[in-house]
Amino acid sequence: MAALVWQSCLLLLAVERARGDSSRAPCVHDLGSARQSWTLCWPALQYGGCHSNSSKGVRARVPGTVLASMLESNFSGLDPYVGMNLQQLPDIHQVGPAFYRVRYRTKVAPASCGHPFRTLILRGASYESRVFVDGVERANVTGMFRRLRVPVPSHGFDLEVETSPPPHFGVNVSGQGGDHQLAKDGPLAQFALGWDWVQATPDRNTGLWDKVEVMEHSSQLVEDLYVRTALLQRGAGHDALLTVEAHKGPCGLKWRVRHHANRSLDAEGTLAVPHCPGSSAKLEEAKLWWPWQFGDPYLYEVEILDGDCAILRQPFGVRHSEVFYEPRTDGPAFRINGVRIFLAGVNWITTDQLLRFSTNSQRYEDEVRLMRTAGANVIRVWGGGIAERPEFYRACDRLGMLVYQEFWMTGDNNGAQAGSFSWPLDHQVFVDNVQDTILLLRGHPSLFWWGGGNELWPSDRSPPMDISRAERGLVEALDGSRPYIQTSSLLQQMQSYDPKNVTAALSVDDGPYGSQVPGEFFQRNPYLRFQRYPNRTGLEPFPLSINPELGGPNFPTFAGLRRFIRTRQVPGRLGSPQPAEFAWHNFEAFVVNTSLGRPGLANGTLVDPIYDLWPRVSPMDQKTYADRASVVQYVQYRSLFEGYLQHQWSWYAGLLLWKGQTPWPSLRGFLYDWYLEANSAHQGMAAALQHTDHVLVSLEPCTLGAANVYRVNRGMEDAPETEVALTFFSLPQGEVLGTSRFQAPLVEPEAVALVGHARWPRRDGALLLRVHHNGHVLEHLLSDPCNGDALLPAMDYGNLEPTPTTLRARAWGAFEVRVTNVGAFAALLVHPRLWNGTEEVLPVWWNADYFNLLPGEMRRITWTGPVGSDVTFSGFNVREPEEALVI
Ligand SMILES: *[C@@H]1O[C@H](CO)[C@@H](O)[C@H](O)[C@H]1NC(C)=O
Ligand SMILES: *[C@@H]1O[C@H](CO)[C@@H](O)[C@H](O)[C@H]1NC(C)=O
Ligand SMILES: *[C@@H]1O[C@H](CO)[C@@H](O)[C@H](O)[C@H]1NC(C)=O
Ligand SMILES: *[C@@H]1O[C@H](CO)[C@@H](O)[C@H](O)[C@H]1NC(C)=O
Ligand SMILES: *[C@@H]1O[C@H](CO)[C@@H](O)[C@H](O)[C@H]1NC(C)=O
Ligand SMILES: *[C@@H]1O[C@H](CO)[C@@H](O)[C@H](O)[C@H]1NC(C)=O
Ligand SMILES: *[C@@H]1O[C@H](CO)[C@@H](O)[C@H](O)[C@H]1NC(C)=O
Ligand SMILES: *[C@@H]1O[C@H](CO)[C@@H](O)[C@H](O)[C@H]1NC(C)=O
Ligand SMILES: *[C@@H]1O[C@H](CO)[C@@H](O)[C@H](O)[C@H]1NC(C)=O
Repeated sequence: MAALVWQSCLLLLAVERARGDSSRAPCVHDLGSARQSWTLCWPALQYGGCHSNSSKGVRARVPGTVLASMLESNFSGLDPYVGMNLQQLPDIHQVGPAFYRVRYRTKVAPASCGHPFRTLILRGASYESRVFVDGVERANVTGMFRRLRVPVPSHGFDLEVETSPPPHFGVNVSGQGGDHQLAKDGPLAQFALGWDWVQATPDRNTGLWDKVEVMEHSSQLVEDLYVRTALLQRGAGHDALLTVEAHKGPCGLKWRVRHHANRSLDAEGTLAVPHCPGSSAKLEEAKLWWPWQFGDPYLYEVEILDGDCAILRQPFGVRHSEVFYEPRTDGPAFRINGVRIFLAGVNWITTDQLLRFSTNSQRYEDEVRLMRTAGANVIRVWGGGIAERPEFYRACDRLGMLVYQEFWMTGDNNGAQAGSFSWPLDHQVFVDNVQDTILLLRGHPSLFWWGGGNELWPSDRSPPMDISRAERGLVEALDGSRPYIQTSSLLQQMQSYDPKNVTAALSVDDGPYGSQVPGEFFQRNPYLRFQRYPNRTGLEPFPLSINPELGGPNFPTFAGLRRFIRTRQVPGRLGSPQPAEFAWHNFEAFVVNTSLGRPGLANGTLVDPIYDLWPRVSPMDQKTYADRASVVQYVQYRSLFEGYLQHQWSWYAGLLLWKGQTPWPSLRGFLYDWYLEANSAHQGMAAALQHTDHVLVSLEPCTLGAANVYRVNRGMEDAPETEVALTFFSLPQGEVLGTSRFQAPLVEPEAVALVGHARWPRRDGALLLRVHHNGHVLEHLLSDPCNGDALLPAMDYGNLEPTPTTLRARAWGAFEVRVTNVGAFAALLVHPRLWNGTEEVLPVWWNADYFNLLPGEMRRITWTGPVGSDVTFSGFNVREPEEALVI
């Protein structure tokens, strides 16, 4: 229902009211606690009971889980994400289910729009929910992702919704799904029992976690409106055949789609509902919906008419999505509108561990935009999480972001690695939730394909056959416009993997999940190539066309760290114990095994890039740790994406970072933190992906002591012949050491061309590189990748002694500052920050972030708003106290 925008026909309304005619748009009332007072009571007598005549109670947050409500009422201002505070909240395994079984209560006002019918709609409640109207039970629902529609009276009434926790709430031991018991229930978000990047959620997300609405309407509601689009190729343009259907609704309603350019080309037909076939119509020369970087994500609007009056409007896109077998990469690849897309994206959990942003369009818009500014063109909504909300999908529709949505199973708990292949226990409940989720989300053009779940194996047992058959059948019948792929990965089952069966599995393996020697990312299947699989000897190529998960450690900025870490301790060099707070926040060290693929080195030679690549400091402090981490992750994530890009359409059709964001302030897997501050990994990824015509310095094994320079064209058009100039600057001084110039030939779409060889002017120490080509300037921080004596070739920071430099900034209008490096050293990874008094504004859409400034150099920094009071700059070696600029 949420994808629908209901509008009144205001003009007609008056006329109809005069005529007593009730055929017009429904009215929607959001019953959220922002508008309406709700209380919570506990049916268990030891927590007070829920007497029908008691008017007292704890204020409830709606939408909001029990824990989210209790945090506002019962735990006096405790921020569960700071320090180890989460441990102070009672885990359901300790206090029992009665502690988190509640009733949400409110008084619903009488109907006010003059319609004869009213329907209550719960968009998401977990785990078992019962609805009472004036004390009488009217309906119930099980599972986190199934809506409930309940007819309710027109007079005012007392509404109560009782929500109970999942019966198998499990024990909050840490790790992938804790003790795995939660997977007996489901569908729900399995990460609620903890993972290696999150602690267990004490109430397992019990409660009214999503929107509650009441709709007043005249006749049968039009439910789950959907526009099927089929492209009919015609010359340069595309005609599209539109079929408009609803899952439920009255017979005989008309639909209309306004043509984007020519009113005489509007398309019209009859709405199809069960038992009443509709009529399709052609939309001529349709504008297609494209992922960003390939075109506009154009949205049309379908109107449902009652007479001449639109009673319902809903956006939709015209696009065609398909998976196919790509012989070059020997595995699955994707096309949209007939065009192959190299997928470069991220894994996604959700916005908040306690699900507090489930209806927050702004939060979704911000996070999806942060993924887009990192260069991602696809987001995988991972199967251990949730069905993302319509507000998320609306942001993706608008921003041209493709989405891979999985249903809610993972091999960690559903048999392949632990738990049981037969879980969840109630298959019908699971399938009912699948069906409702397809109906809820199928209208979003950004939704690219459905997945059966995470790392499920083997294909004939996981998901259980009846569930996978039902999923496939429901996607086919109710959606029909996008593929269903049974699992993200077959978990190394090389023997049974058939790369041609592209809807059986997206891949045969995934990973790695740690830092690498940067050059490793340019080898086929980084790190995994050393794995010994059944039937394989290792050290040989195998097909992994799309890698659904690979990544490594992340770290926030120093300021970001201070938002939630209370200790001043620092993680020690690898092997030493970690401070408890860091462990609680899932800290993972940037450890690299440097011996992989280097025969001279003993197996298992481990380097800690924060300690071992730099001049020794003693003691290490958090600021230094965070500054070094910012250089390390910038290079790691850039290399990861550039390594895959160099082999686009030869070895690979795509990759997805594990992972792009985190639902609480953890220290693992994020390009921006929970507070929405981007870290340098975000810029490392953006540097690789921001232009579809990209030049990269390859870190593959050097020939003749020089690094290869490639030009990669990911776009749909030829990249024209151009000059590439690569300039090296010394560090820390920032003096020009030399420029290499190459003539880059025209590069066709999907092609990669060798442009030339770059020889480092210095063997030791990192240099700043600037690459100019075709109007773009990209920077890089690399030491000589051909220096095999370096502990980590390309990452030698022996010359980066603490050399603070001073930046001076001048305001230049409301949304511009000019920042100059007035110090003697190059300023590295400079990161602007905007303030509103003492509050930092996040996120901010800067024109440049994590950039470098040579001594004497000035840069214009602009942003799109809001107006702040100050802009400050931090950075690897930026002197901080006096950096504030008052504007
Ligand atoms: C109403 O509340 C009173 C106490 O305030 C209690 O004694 C009585 O049993 C309640 N009645 C019902 C029906 O719950
Ligand atoms: C929450 O706090 C309210 C009072 O603020 C109290 O009545 C209620 O019993 C508490 N609930 C639990 C489960 O602790
Ligand atoms: C489990 O929850 C309790 C609080 O109820 C907490 O003290 C404990 O640290 C938690 N354990 C883990 C591993 O999350
Ligand atoms: C839930 O609703 C169904 C009908 O939809 C009913 O048969 C069942 O008894 C209800 N369950 C409970 C616990 O009330
Ligand atoms: C609009 O479409 C009609 C019907 O195809 C055509 O005759 C007319 O020329 C079009 N108008 C414009 C401005 O393109
Ligand atoms: C492809 O995989 C699916 C799911 O495992 C299976 O049902 C189907 O038989 C396979 N098709 C072929 C041609 O092997
Ligand atoms: C792979 O292993 C399977 C079973 O172990 C065996 O039947 C098959 O012949 C092997 N294939 C190759 C190419 O070695
Ligand atoms: C490293 O390990 C591999 C496989 O375990 C082995 O083949 C190789 O000989 C080892 N190399 C050294 C230098 O120990
Ligand atoms: C700035 O702070 C004021 C006062 O706290 C607040 O009202 C305003 O919304 C803030 N503006 C922004 C852009 O955050």
